[in-house]
Amino acid sequence: MKKVVVLSGAGISAESGISTFRDSGGLWEQYRIEDVATYEGWQKNRRLVLDFYNQRRKQLADARPNAGHFELVRLEQAYEVHIITQNVDDLHERAGSTRVLHLHGELKKARSTRDPNYIVDLDGWEMTEEMTDPQGALLRPHIVWFGEAVPLIERAALLSEKADCYIVVGTSLAVYPAAGLIHYVPANVPKYVVDPHDVPANVPHVRYIKEPAGTGLKKVVDELISNRLVMS
Ligand code: APR
Repeated sequence: MKKVVVLSGAGISAESGISTFRDSGGLWEQYRIEDVATYEGWQKNRRLVLDFYNQRRKQLADARPNAGHFELVRLEQAYEVHIITQNVDDLHERAGSTRVLHLHGELKKARSTRDPNYIVDLDGWEMTEEMTDPQGALLRPHIVWFGEAVPLIERAALLSEKADCYIVVGTSLAVYPAAGLIHYVPANVPKYVVDPHDVPANVPHVRYIKEPAGTGLKKVVDELISNRLVMS
């Protein structure tokens, strides 16, 4: 089976009511990155950081996957689909996608500040300052903050190298190393960029679908399933 690799970002969850980061009215207009999404912010004010992610978790509890997420599930009928997502929500999984790699962590998990391999599922939306691992070390959100290493980037780069087709959807491609993944995709492989705004990918063999994820991905998936695309 041919492999379709998808790099998704906040825009695919926008139609589920989840705020993006850099659109007008996005999260980074309301919060300072250094306050809520860095290790320094966490050391300075844990309460503020926990509140920020508690709100994101609350918002996620009320959200449902949208047409864009479901289109990627439909694509699994015909292709081996691998989703590399920058999103920390679980909407790809809830829609039914089976191979999802969370590059920037997962909102519904927490991890130990002592042992990065101690990762637990959170029961509800709230993380409190008192939560610890069995050894008494503080738990932190299981999120890759700015300035931190991205542990899954190598796996994501390998997947990108092996793609027979690549879809970028709902990301401003502003944050590295995720934004650099498209450069691992072989030049002759067909690529789609689905986004209502201009997101120049600066790679060969790319088609821009300037639409929201729901309608844009429907076009791409229809085309891929009916095999109108000549796969190299
Ligand atoms: N459908 C598709 N794309 C959309 C939609 C929609 N309905 N609405 C907005 N977009 C697009 C925007 O045009 C923009 O290009 O989604 C993109 C969102 O970009 P960002 O807010 O920068 O989100 P993202 O690229 O996922 O951010 C990357 O930055 O803050 C960090 O860790 C955070 O994972 C995040 C990373």
